[in-house]
Amino acid sequence: MTLTTDPVVCRRKEEVRRYLGERRRQGQRIGVVPTMGALHEGHVALARALRQHCDFLAMWIFVNPTQFNDPVDYERYPRTLQRDCKVAGEAGVELIFAPEVEEIYPAGLDAYRPGLSVRVRAGDRSLRYEGEHRPGHFDGVIHVCTVMFNILQPDVVAFGEKDFQQVSVIRQLLVDLSLPIELITVPIVRGEGGLALSSRNKLLHDEGPATAIWHSLQHACARAEGGETSVQTLATEVSQRLLAAGLRPEYVAIVDPDTLQPLERLAGEARLLVAAFADNNVRLIDNIAIRGRVIEA
Ligand code: PAJ
Repeated sequence: MTLTTDPVVCRRKEEVRRYLGERRRQGQRIGVVPTMGALHEGHVALARALRQHCDFLAMWIFVNPTQFNDPVDYERYPRTLQRDCKVAGEAGVELIFAPEVEEIYPAGLDAYRPGLSVRVRAGDRSLRYEGEHRPGHFDGVIHVCTVMFNILQPDVVAFGEKDFQQVSVIRQLLVDLSLPIELITVPIVRGEGGLALSSRNKLLHDEGPATAIWHSLQHACARAEGGETSVQTLATEVSQRLLAAGLRPEYVAIVDPDTLQPLERLAGEARLLVAAFADNNVRLIDNIAIRGRVIEA
């Protein structure tokens, strides 16, 4: 039997600073899992993985308004704090920081953008794909992460490969602002049909058609292994499969996994990134490592 205790929940930054400061003085290494709540097994996997890298495990739960480019998406984002506390506790989280919006944006908000005199903006890895289709999204992510990192001062943080571009943008943030934080990444956790777990899946009336995303990614992998090297051909085939399942693809890109630059031909390691709209206008993203067959000379 494993005994779990409910995590301490802090709503104010002074409170969480005091709490974590005490831990740090005791020489403990602080791990933090950033989330927007509505926790599922993907978040739990981050907590479990991070537990191996720290002495004290904390999580933030904050539906960050400034990273939503669509007010409807922000308003309907699931908020389930009580349940989240239980799930997080079972995953070994000892402290949850769940602030109100005013706590994080003291200068207020202007139409979901920070009404701030100081802003942190995302670097060049944010420009395409998610950044292109969700203007301002990564600026909001980077801003909230910088504020949260300053409040919580983690030694190590965990991010999921589900948001592959987000990981890359955060890596750039840590390097460019010289933040002394280690970053660990965790593979995508999928449901039974292969659909990547996401808080937004709760908004789908039927998850069935959305599993075409996973099938189309696997198809592209198999085609690449079979020797197809044209990115355009692979991307078209993925799009066709999504459309046939009744999804509306927004972008299908095959990119260099480090720089996120788009590739024209597959040679070695790459990442296939997809965004598509499913029923109820729910926008889903997914990705997979893809490898061009190395032809022996
Ligand atoms: P959120 O969407 O709640 O995701 C929190 C973390 O969980 C992210 O690192 C995300 O990649 C990871 N995650 C979500 N679904 C996953 C899955 N199926 N498998 C593995 N990991 C998964 O990402 C955010 O929140 C926000 O942008 C945040 C970083 C908290 C800033 O507001």
